[in-house]
Amino acid sequence: MSDLIFNVDHITLRFGGVVSLNDVTLHQNRGEILAVIGPNGAGKTSLFNSLTGVYQPQEGSITFTGKDAKPLSVIGKKPHRVSNAGVARTFQASRMFSALTTFENIKIGAESHRGIGVVGAMLRSPATRRDERDSDERTKALLDFVGLRAKANVISSSLSYGDRRRLEIARGLATGPQVLLLDEPAAGTNPSEKLELTTLIRKVRDEMGVSILLIEHDMKLVMSLAERLYVLNFGSVIAQGTPEEIRANDKVIEAYLGSTATETGDRS
Ligand SMILES: Nc1ncnc2c1ncn2[C@@H]1O[C@H](COP(=O)(O)OP(=O)(O)O)[C@@H](O)[C@H]1O
Ligand SMILES: [Mg+2]
Repeated sequence: MSDLIFNVDHITLRFGGVVSLNDVTLHQNRGEILAVIGPNGAGKTSLFNSLTGVYQPQEGSITFTGKDAKPLSVIGKKPHRVSNAGVARTFQASRMFSALTTFENIKIGAESHRGIGVVGAMLRSPATRRDERDSDERTKALLDFVGLRAKANVISSSLSYGDRRRLEIARGLATGPQVLLLDEPAAGTNPSEKLELTTLIRKVRDEMGVSILLIEHDMKLVMSLAERLYVLNFGSVIAQGTPEEIRANDKVIEAYLGSTATETGDRS
């Protein structure tokens, strides 16, 4: 029996005359580390936006199935509804609150998800206080998990790129997701930070059981991390397979791997 966390069936997304996604079909198995690669403008971020309820493809269907949950038909659902169902993401451009500390940034992720709003915090009912203790504990556990405990009280804007990327992953995990969507998690990092991020992402899957869907320009990183890949070009899937199969695919080499921009780490 197949156990799909995402089932994307023939989706097409248009903006006026621009076709961002053209009849895209793909699936992700539960527990899988899956990557989507392709040149700039291929539709990778559009795909993530479609999977998270930000964009609404005009055709096709997207089904997300959380553990023990009813399948959710994503198209037409609001982003917070998709997030509550168990889909977390990080963004290509960092979206943290840079004036807050590492600890505060993660805690906000945990609390906004659980609906502890401003009113709850003001009233400070026993339930709110218990929730607050819970989210403090959860935040500390996540800091340990991503290796940022020692930097809990550092203002986020002064973290290194590598640490910011860890923080974003922790923020995504704070919502307790089934799947984590990472949009270029290694952008701006140096080779040793890239290696550490690879280890962390694998640990998220192995120890937390969270499925990973990854967009990444760095071929070395993506080929060492992903168990399976899809290749997008001009909005269409031109290939899918294991890293070995993708490396040997002529269409991919022509569309993507042959381009020098990708090898030098162009990340726009
Ligand atoms: N909100 C939008 N409005 C208009 N066009 C868009 C929008 N989002 C994406 N596109 C277009 O969709 C195509 C794919 O873009 P994108 O998904 O960002 O590619 P990638 O992430 O692979 O670089 C581009 O031609 C882009 O201009
Ligand atoms: Mg993009």
